[in-house]
Amino acid sequence: MKKTILTGLRPTGNLHLGHLFGACQNYLKLQDDYDFYLEIADVQALTDNFDQPKKVRINVNEITMDLLAVGLDPKKVNFFIQSQIKEIAELTVFYSNLVTIARLERNPTVKAEIAQKKDLFGHNGESITYGFLGYPVSQAADITTFDGELIPVGEDQLPLIEQCREIVRKFNSIYGDTLKEPQPILSETTRIKGLDGNEKMGKSLGNAIFLIDDEETVQKKIMGAVTDPHKIRKDDPANPDICMVYYYHKLVNSKENIQKVCTECKSGTRGCVGCKRELIEKMNEFLAPIKERRKYYEEHPKEVEEILKNGTKKAQEKATEQMEKIKKAMMIDY
Ligand code: TRP
Repeated sequence: MKKTILTGLRPTGNLHLGHLFGACQNYLKLQDDYDFYLEIADVQALTDNFDQPKKVRINVNEITMDLLAVGLDPKKVNFFIQSQIKEIAELTVFYSNLVTIARLERNPTVKAEIAQKKDLFGHNGESITYGFLGYPVSQAADITTFDGELIPVGEDQLPLIEQCREIVRKFNSIYGDTLKEPQPILSETTRIKGLDGNEKMGKSLGNAIFLIDDEETVQKKIMGAVTDPHKIRKDDPANPDICMVYYYHKLVNSKENIQKVCTECKSGTRGCVGCKRELIEKMNEFLAPIKERRKYYEEHPKEVEEILKNGTKKAQEKATEQMEKIKKAMMIDY
């Protein structure tokens, strides 16, 4: 029996290099050997986008096409839409008794998000909604509805997995041994820096290269990337370790070329403009096959719809089975 992998993504925008290196490459490695459920977490996306249903709806398709473009194989990965599996919502209600409000308020991921979203939740989080504060409970339901054992995630998600593990332990101790405690699997690269040198590449930070960016956009973005500020003239020696252009060369260029970029940069025989041009070329070469696959799906929307439909159907079968077990344990199996 293959072990079950479950992970989720909020459909709030297109995927960028941060997602690709931080998450998707991990999925690609795992897709062959596991029973893989990939949740398009539209209900979770609504917790902080409840006033933007159109944005969420559009991005369910966008993110699915991005994931397919990256090379995830719908024969191996069950893509499903969270809102279509009612058991997740049902289980969220059951779990809400097993977690205190104080514990949710202490969750580091939730805390960081509240601090980031001052316009939505107020300066001191005074306008935080019940739904947003509770999304870790719903995420625990996402995972356990499918008996998820291994959860490939970025570092920022670890507190949410821990919260799920606590809920599972509490459930099992009260209602009897029913649920599996999930384990996170971290990617080798957990975080990709932004074009501006920020530790994190993010859509809202405006420092990302998206997988769908066209060649001109890539060019413009890389031309504006942060380099060693001490390098003024073309032949000044510089420090590649504080240069974002070198950082991205390391992601998309060949070993040999990376070495060359590094040595020439340090010795002052490489100008930044030329170095950026080389990166633009390599980045566009790197993104080309992804965009080509994406184009296929853009031209075959029915196929995308079918992939989501089939994946959701398979997810539903598993959810029904699991819910029976859970209701029995909770003595609500009428
Ligand atoms: N919280 C995750 C994110 O923001 C998305 C997510 C939803 C998820 N459900 C999940 C991740 C279940 C792992 C497991 O990216």
